[in-house]
Amino acid sequence: MSDNKGPEGFEKFYSAIFQERWPSLKEALLGEKRHVAVVNPFSKFKFPGDHPRIAGISFEHAVGEVFPQPEKTEAGYANYYLLDAASVLAIEALDLAPGERVVDLCAAPGGKSLLCALKLKNQGLLVSNDRSAARRARIHKIFDEYLPKTEQKNHKVTGHDSSKWCLYEKSAYDKILLDAPCSSERHVLLDQRELATWAPGRTKALAVSQFAMLASALDVVKVGGTIVYSTCALSKLENDDVIEKLHHKREGRFEVLQKEFAIGEKTEFGWQVLPDTSGWGPFYLSIIRRLR
Ligand SMILES: C[S@@+](CC[C@H](N)C(=O)[O-])C[C@H]1O[C@@H](n2cnc3c(N)ncnc32)[C@H](O)[C@@H]1O
Repeated sequence: MSDNKGPEGFEKFYSAIFQERWPSLKEALLGEKRHVAVVNPFSKFKFPGDHPRIAGISFEHAVGEVFPQPEKTEAGYANYYLLDAASVLAIEALDLAPGERVVDLCAAPGGKSLLCALKLKNQGLLVSNDRSAARRARIHKIFDEYLPKTEQKNHKVTGHDSSKWCLYEKSAYDKILLDAPCSSERHVLLDQRELATWAPGRTKALAVSQFAMLASALDVVKVGGTIVYSTCALSKLENDDVIEKLHHKREGRFEVLQKEFAIGEKTEFGWQVLPDTSGWGPFYLSIIRRLR
């Protein structure tokens, strides 16, 4: 195998990108994952006493290394949803209000869609889309575990290819979440089989399909509406470079909104959370407002 592939190729690729930062970033990626527990208001669950919180996370939440798996309370719904704090930032970036029309283009298993639902309060429209039927089943399962059926009346699950959505619907949503399929390097590093078959071409191919989805989303969001593009990829190729390509190919049709968060660091077109400095992520997001 060429040394541009497999574990050696991976090492070469990411140490060239992150240079002297790579060893500590790699160590953090291999470390224990932390979680935020976002409380489900329908469960009537409360964490006892005071808990550390993250500034800027507007959901009732607690922060910790290890939480027991979520469980059903007497009210009949799961007590909290566990996710990376950086993932919550994508929902904060959307700045949702009840009544808005929202599509989550790559939604499964559905954690971020669930948080969207908590913000929309069963008003407006929430479409959770995912091309994988098996993964769509997980969206239904999560919604049923966390929300009463009567609170899901504004929710629809669909199975379209999000890169082709613009062929069927245009200027239709106030807000779009595009949490795109990506390299997920943290997962690759932790899985010897994935690492053995890693190749740089995979990142490049993903960047092509991420761009296709984002370009489609730009037609699907209303003029004045916003798209949050996010990935858990480390490399710029799948993050800022996708936004840069949109600038070249769709010049003048959108602007990037630069927003700062309590965890993470600014990038050219967005915000990135990396675990070596913050203990969260990896996660990247960019906020795009359609101008015309
Ligand atoms: C990063 S995961 C989404 C995670 C999800 N947003 C969450 O928070 O639970 C990416 C998802 O995109 C879906 N996907 C991949 N290609 C797609 C496409 N062309 N159209 C729609 N969904 C796609 C995958 O099935 C996968 O579930």
